[in-house]
Order: sequence, then structure tokens, then C-alpha cells
Amino acid sequence: MKKFFVFFFASLMTLLFMSGIASAEEGKVCIGCHKAVTPLLVKDWQSSKHSDNDVACNICHGSEHKSRKTSHLARMPDENTCAECHEEQFNQFTKGKHNFGWTSLNALPITHMEPDELMEGGKGCGGCHNMGVKSEAQKKELREKGYTYRTNSCDECHTRHTFSKKEAQDPKACRTCHMGFDHPQWEMYESSKHGVRYQLKEMGRLPKDAAAPTCQFCHLPDGTHTNKVAWGFLGVRLPLPKDKQWAKDQTTILKALGVLDPEGKPTARLDIVKSADLTRLTEDDWQVERKKMIKICKKCHSEKYARGELEKGDQMIRKADRLMAEAINIVADLYKDGIVKKPAHYTYAYPDFLHFYQTGGSYIEQVLFKMYMKYRMRTYQGVFHANPDYAYWYGWAPMTKALDEVKKLAEGLRCKANIQQ
Ligand code: HEC
Ligand code: HEC
Ligand code: HEC
Ligand code: HEC
Ligand code: HEC
Ligand code: HEC
Ligand code: HEC
Ligand code: HEC
Repeated sequence: MKKFFVFFFASLMTLLFMSGIASAEEGKVCIGCHKAVTPLLVKDWQSSKHSDNDVACNICHGSEHKSRKTSHLARMPDENTCAECHEEQFNQFTKGKHNFGWTSLNALPITHMEPDELMEGGKGCGGCHNMGVKSEAQKKELREKGYTYRTNSCDECHTRHTFSKKEAQDPKACRTCHMGFDHPQWEMYESSKHGVRYQLKEMGRLPKDAAAPTCQFCHLPDGTHTNKVAWGFLGVRLPLPKDKQWAKDQTTILKALGVLDPEGKPTARLDIVKSADLTRLTEDDWQVERKKMIKICKKCHSEKYARGELEKGDQMIRKADRLMAEAINIVADLYKDGIVKKPAHYTYAYPDFLHFYQTGGSYIEQVLFKMYMKYRMRTYQGVFHANPDYAYWYGWAPMTKALDEVKKLAEGLRCKANIQQ
């Protein structure tokens, strides 16, 4: 009996060993041909840690395709393939906000009214929102529409086929997505003292050990892959702030996000907000993230200083919300008085930010949308990222200008309606 087990065990080991060799041999076949087919891709791989550790093409893409005519049989690896060897990073990633990128994109009504190329095709919204492990249903939908790539979000920060750690540690790895219209964190960071110091350090003008926080230092500390902040993107919060006027203004914003109906009752969109973790839902959840951030600032600043700087950001949300709510109410009144008609694709006769520029033809609502999505965000994003110019000239100042424009446009619309009566 004992002999049998020894024999069995030995055979098993031989089998595993042989399959290892077979696998390495298979990898050589892939590389042999791909040196001619995609030479620089192979060079990339050769410079990677994967190459040093015999993680060859076949490990990630399978071995069904081995000839020029069978490339359609190559498998595109999703995050689960990476998880087989990098479970820790995978688990951290799935607990963070990035894991909701694809889901929150698809939860918006606008997404399904726009060209597929810009969504599933990855040329617009879908280009940055290819973040998060996709469900079987989400993958099926992609395949059915003929989109076979973009199955993996790990290569968004350490790009294939170098899969480099150094690349992901550089703030430029975040740049492609965290820039532009509604979240110019790269631009704000790059020209802030934090970013300038980082660049001078890289150029050798500041000592190697000079203190200069990167995006990663503040948002993915100690090598974690879990990212989350207190206010989040939308800058709204449940429970509402204690200040009465502020709570009222945030309620108005939540109505324009369609999370509350015009009467203030929760809608089905509240479930989306909850399931994609769009805002922190309890005071504790919010405080946990705020405390984590202060602990990071404290590595270089005093706690009093850091706390004060972040509170200025909170206060700028409050002040921006005052302007925002006033503008929303002006447009909501136009709906109420029948001066702006409810578009067929709207649920309520009320401005709806989640239709972006496809607002049903009312220009005033486009101005309102821009005030929310572009200027309000910049006002507090600029403060949180220590960038005075973004906070004022690209944030607060155009907010006041947009409010003026909304007032003027509303006057005009009311005037026109009176004449037509
Ligand atoms: C005899 C040559 C040859 C061998 C061997 C070979 N490939 Fe390919 N492979 C190709 C060609 C040709 C293409 C198509 C390139 C194109 O579309 O321009 C391709 C495409 C691919 C693609 C991209 C498929 C897509 O949908 O874009 C992957 C991934 C791939 N090969 C992986 C592998 C792996 C893994 C192996 C080894 C198990 C392998 N290849 C072996 C020639 C080869
Ligand atoms: C560690 C895993 C891993 C290894 C090893 C690997 N790949 Fe890939 N490869 C990926 C990922 C991830 C993608 C992107 C998948 C997607 O977007 O759906 C990809 C995509 C591709 C593509 C299609 C996209 C493009 O840019 O053209 C080709 C071709 C390809 N790999 C070839 C190879 C070859 C050849 C090798 C070996 C030299 C190799 N891969 C090794 C993970 C790997
Ligand atoms: C079969 C196991 C295996 C698979 C599958 C695998 N890796 Fe790796 N990976 C490794 C090994 C081994 C190393 C080297 C570890 C070391 O040197 O500490 C590594 C290193 C890395 C590194 C660090 C590189 C550096 O510069 O230090 C990254 C990033 C990485 N892998 C990402 C990925 C991604 C993304 C995928 C999926 C597309 C993937 N890996 C799939 C085994 C694997
Ligand atoms: C340039 C890359 C990029 C494009 C293009 C893009 N997004 Fe985003 N999106 C992001 C980033 C980055 C965030 C997180 C920003 C933040 O927290 O400040 C985000 C946040 C979001 C959120 C909020 C998620 C949350 O939890 O707060 C939604 C919803 C969203 N985007 C939908 C869309 C839609 C719909 C489109 C296209 C009309 C789009 N995005 C286009 C990068 C992009
Ligand atoms: C938002 C950007 C980002 C994404 C997306 C991302 N990573 Fe990373 N990854 C990083 C950063 C930053 C580091 C360097 C951490 C550090 O400084 O130790 C890193 C490091 C790694 C390492 C090297 C760990 C070590 O200490 O050697 C591995 C392995 C890795 N990531 C795997 C993955 C896998 C698997 C995924 C997908 C589930 C993934 N990463 C997605 C940013 C990212
Ligand atoms: C491929 C595009 C992409 C890249 C690259 C990327 N992100 Fe993101 N990031 C997103 C998207 C999309 C979201 C919004 C996710 C959602 O819908 O919840 C986001 C959200 C965030 C958030 C907001 C968390 C919250 O609580 O709302 C932080 C912080 C963040 N990313 C940091 C980073 C850092 C740091 C890097 C670089 C190491 C990085 N991201 C790289 C697309 C990207
Ligand atoms: C010095 C630390 C620090 C650095 C460096 C930093 N951030 Fe932030 N970031 C913050 C703070 C603080 C907040 C606001 C947190 C809160 O909601 O209380 C924030 C918020 C965010 C958010 C959520 C929306 C917003 O802007 O309020 C995203 C996304 C983000 N940062 C991405 C980035 C990216 C990408 C970089 C690099 C280009 C970066 N951050 C650099 C501290 C930092
Ligand atoms: C790795 C070190 C480091 C971390 C972490 C860090 N800072 Fe800084 N910060 C600095 C340095 C150094 C300066 C430049 C100081 C100066 O202007 O003399 C600076 C400048 C600033 C400035 C601009 C001050 C001015 O005079 O213009 C603000 C605001 C700021 N930090 C806030 C924060 C906040 C808030 C956090 C946490 C979210 C934080 N910092 C995290 C190192 C850091």
C-alpha cells in the first residue's frame, strides 16, 4: 500500500514537472513566431519580471492558438488570470472604488444613448471606465456586440507587456484618466507645490529624499490597491451635513441627480448609488476615509495644518452648493410653470444631470450641467489638490458666471412665454 502511494506521488510529480516543461516549450513556440509577428511586443515581455520567471504568452493566453491561421483561439486574460499569482493585489483592488468603474458607467441612462464605440468600444467614457472585474453578464454583452478586448483592468496602470511596478508608481500612470473636463486631478497636481516638488526631485534639482507626495502616496498608500476618499466624485453625502441650509442645498442637488424625486422621496437611482458606492452612506464611513487622509498628510505636515486645509475644501463644497442650488431651483421652476417641457426620456419634469448634454434640447439645462459637472467639481477638487488657480479661475469664478447666465436665460424664456400667450 505504502509503495503504491510512493509510486503514485512520484508519478504525480513527474506529470507536474513534465507539464511545466511542456508549458515552457509551448511558450518558446509562441515567442519564436511572435518575434516576427509582433517583435516589439515580445521585447516588452522580455524586459518584464514575467519573462525572468517563465510566465510566457501561453500562461495568460492559453495554448489553443499555435499557428498563423488560429489567432482567434487566443484567450484574452481577465483579472482572475492575474489573481492566480497575485491574489493579494487582486483582493485589494476588488475592495476599492476602481472596481466599480464599469458598473457605475453602465448605471447611467446617458450611456445607453451614446455611440457604442465610445462605450463598449473604449473610445470615450469606456476608455477610462474599463476598471473593475466584469461580471459574466457584462462580458457576454461585450462579446455579443463584437468587442473582444478590454477584458482586463490590471494593465491600466502597469501596461502590457512590461507589467512594470515602477510605471504604476509614477503619477503619470493615473494621467490618462484623471484629467480633463470633470476631474482634472493631473493638471491640478502637476502645477501644485506637491507636483512641482515631485518633478524637481525626479530631475535631480531637489535631493533624492525630498518630501514630495505622489497620487499613489495619498491614494494608494503602502502599496495597497484599494482606493476610496471621503467626499468622492459627486461631492454629495448621505447622511446630509448638519448645517440646515447646506443640507437643503444638497437635497436640491440630489434631486437634480435623480436620486430623490422632485418631492424629495428616494428613487430607484438611490439603489444604484448604494450598489456602486457613489457616496459614503454613513457619518462613520465618511470619517474613516477622512482620518486615513489626515494620517497621510501628517507624515509631512502638522495635524492642525492638514485638518484646516481639508476643512477649507469642505467649506468650499458648502459655498459652491449654495450657488448650485439657486441655479437648479431657477430651472426647476421653469419646469413647474410649464415654460420648459419635460423631454420624453426624462422621468420627472425636473433638471436631470445624468443626461449630460442630451438634456432634451433646453440650452439652459446644458449651462446648468456644465456648472455642476465642470465648475463645481473644480472648486473643491482644486482646494483638495492644493491648486489655487483651479479652485478660483476654473472653479468658483465660472460658477458665479454660470449662475448669472442661468438667470438671464430664464428671464428670456419667461419673456418669450408671456409674448406667446
Ligand atoms: C506560427 C506563428 C504563430 C505562433 C506559433 C503563435 N502565434 Fe499568436 N499570432 C500569430 C499571428 C499571425 C497573429 C495575428 C496577428 C494579427 O492579427 O496581426 C497572432 C495573434 C495572437 C494574439 C492576438 C489575438 C487577437 O485577437 O488580437 C495573441 C494573444 C497570441 N497570438 C498569442 C499567442 C500565444 C499564447 C501563442 C503560443 C501558445 C502564439 N500566439 C503562437 C502567429 C503565431
Ligand atoms: C501576464 C499575462 C500576459 C502575458 C504573459 C502575455 N500577455 Fe498578451 N495580453 C495580456 C493582457 C492583459 C492583454 C489585454 C487583454 C484585453 O485587453 O482584453 C493582452 C493582449 C495581447 C494581445 C492583443 C492586444 C494587442 O495589444 O495587440 C496580443 C497580440 C498579445 N497579448 C500577445 C502576447 C504575446 C505574444 C505574449 C508573449 C510574448 C503575451 N501576450 C504574453 C496579458 C499577457
Ligand atoms: C503564473 C503566475 C503569474 C501570472 C498568471 C501573472 N503574474 Fe505577474 N508576476 C509573476 C511573478 C513570478 C512575478 C515576479 C515577482 C517578483 O519578482 O517578486 C510577477 C510580477 C508582476 C508585477 C511586478 C513587476 C515589477 O516591476 O516588479 C506586476 C505589476 C505583475 N506581475 C502584474 C501581473 C498582471 C497584471 C497579471 C495578469 C495580466 C499577471 N501579473 C499575471 C507571476 C504571475
Ligand atoms: C478621461 C477619462 C474619463 C472619461 C472619458 C469618462 N470618465 Fe467617468 N470618471 C473618470 C474618473 C477618473 C472618475 C473619478 C473621478 C473623481 O472621483 O474625481 C469618473 C467618475 C465617473 C462617475 C462617478 C463614479 C463615482 O463613484 O463617483 C460616473 C457615473 C462616470 N464617471 C460616468 C461617465 C460617463 C457616463 C462618461 C461618458 C459620457 C464618462 N464617465 C467619461 C474618468 C472618465
Ligand atoms: C490604479 C492603478 C493600479 C491598478 C489598476 C493596478 N495596480 Fe498593481 N500596482 C499599482 C501601484 C501604484 C503599485 C506599486 C505599489 C508599491 O509601491 O509597492 C502596484 C504594484 C503591483 C504589483 C507588485 C507588488 C510588489 O510589491 O512587488 C503587482 C503584482 C500588482 N501591482 C498587480 C496588480 C494586479 C493583479 C492588478 C489588477 C487586479 C493591478 N495590479 C492593478 C497600481 C495599480
Ligand atoms: C483607466 C483609467 C484610470 C486610471 C489609469 C486610474 N484611474 Fe482612478 N478612477 C478611474 C475611474 C473610472 C474612477 C471612478 C470609479 C467609479 O466609478 O467608482 C476612478 C476613481 C478614483 C478615485 C476616487 C475614489 C472615490 O472614493 O471616489 C481615486 C482616489 C483614484 N481613482 C485614484 C487613482 C490613482 C492614484 C491612479 C494612478 C495610480 C488612478 N486612479 C488611475 C479611472 C482610472
Ligand atoms: C497630498 C495628497 C494628495 C495628492 C498628492 C493627490 N491627492 Fe487626490 N485627493 C486628496 C484629498 C485630500 C482629496 C479629497 C478627499 C476628501 O474627499 O476628503 C482627494 C480627492 C481625490 C479624488 C476624488 C475627487 C476629488 O478630486 O475630490 C480623486 C479622483 C483624486 N483625488 C485623484 C488624484 C490623482 C489622480 C492624483 C495625482 C494626479 C491625486 N489625487 C493627488 C489628496 C491628494
Ligand atoms: C510627502 C510629504 C507631504 C505630504 C504627504 C503632504 N504634503 Fe503638503 N506639502 C509638502 C511640502 C514639502 C510642501 C511645500 C511647502 C511650502 O510651500 O513651503 C507642501 C505644500 C502644501 C500646500 C501648499 C502650501 C502653500 O504654502 O502653498 C498645501 C495646501 C498642502 N501641502 C496640503 C497638504 C494636505 C492637505 C495633505 C494631505 C492630504 C498634504 N499636504 C500632504 C509635503 C507634503
